[in-house]
Amino acid sequence: MWGAVGRAGLRAFSGGGSPNVGRTLEGKVAVVTAATDGIGLAVAQRLGEAGARVLLSSRRQPNVDAAVQKLRAQGLEVSGVVCHVGQPQDRQHLVQTIFQVNVTAAAMLVKLVVPHMEKRGGGAVVLVTSVAGFMPFPALGPYSVSKTALLGLVKVLAPELRARGVRINAVAPGLIQTRFSAALWQNEATKEQLMSSMGIDRLGTPSDVAEVVAFLCSPAASYVVGETMVVAGGTPSRL
Ligand SMILES: NC(=O)c1ccc[n+]([C@@H]2O[C@H](COP(=O)([O-])OP(=O)(O)OC[C@H]3O[C@@H](n4cnc5c(N)ncnc54)[C@H](OP(=O)(O)O)[C@@H]3O)[C@@H](O)[C@H]2O)c1
Repeated sequence: MWGAVGRAGLRAFSGGGSPNVGRTLEGKVAVVTAATDGIGLAVAQRLGEAGARVLLSSRRQPNVDAAVQKLRAQGLEVSGVVCHVGQPQDRQHLVQTIFQVNVTAAAMLVKLVVPHMEKRGGGAVVLVTSVAGFMPFPALGPYSVSKTALLGLVKVLAPELRARGVRINAVAPGLIQTRFSAALWQNEATKEQLMSSMGIDRLGTPSDVAEVVAFLCSPAASYVVGETMVVAGGTPSRL
């Protein structure tokens, strides 16, 4: 999942959402990929509540339509488009697929969006990596390595993009209760075992991650550049 907020020079709108949420992204456009479920959907909603106009996407039109409808029903200004961030025709092996989707696609999306942000006076990009990028998950080697690569990608891109008025950062979620991680938390015994090995007392929620993404996109984070913020309830997270 990948998100970006750019200055848009578009009209302000009166979105819905929680009255407690500051409208720090008024007049901005937020582009959020993989955003019809889980963390991406929560991020799209949170950025919309902060005043951004949101363009969300995922692989399937019905999922896109349902997510757009759900957020519009909350008074948010949202549109959607189908976008598979990988290249399925090239996929021969699982590892290739993981790197294509998790690393190459993120780099390509940044490359595509930055010129538009630059033209409009700047913006913010937030990549979604994983705590597995710091502490590899057992049996998820290629996934973990792909997420470690994103930590490097953020560091490599930060100075280049800063010179163009764009801040790039990342979030590294821990165990978040979504469809993606269902295999890890649906079985009570596995869940307990995993939580104790991670040193956490609860599963994370998509909105735990969305709050941090909204912060990183906001002016309050204007001096945060090239960082990866871990949102993992205390899971150890040092390389
Ligand atoms: N959940 C966790 O515990 C956890 C922990 C660490 C990191 N993460 C990271 O957080 C991100 C989101 O995970 P999640 O837990 O929110 O997953 P999720 O609940 O399964 O949601 C995945 C979203 O991504 C879309 N999607 C999947 N593959 C895509 C592709 N190739 N191109 C475009 N859209 C795609 C799905 O919609 P369609 O099916 O319609 O495409 C859906 O909107 C991932 O990068 C994951 O590695 C998750």
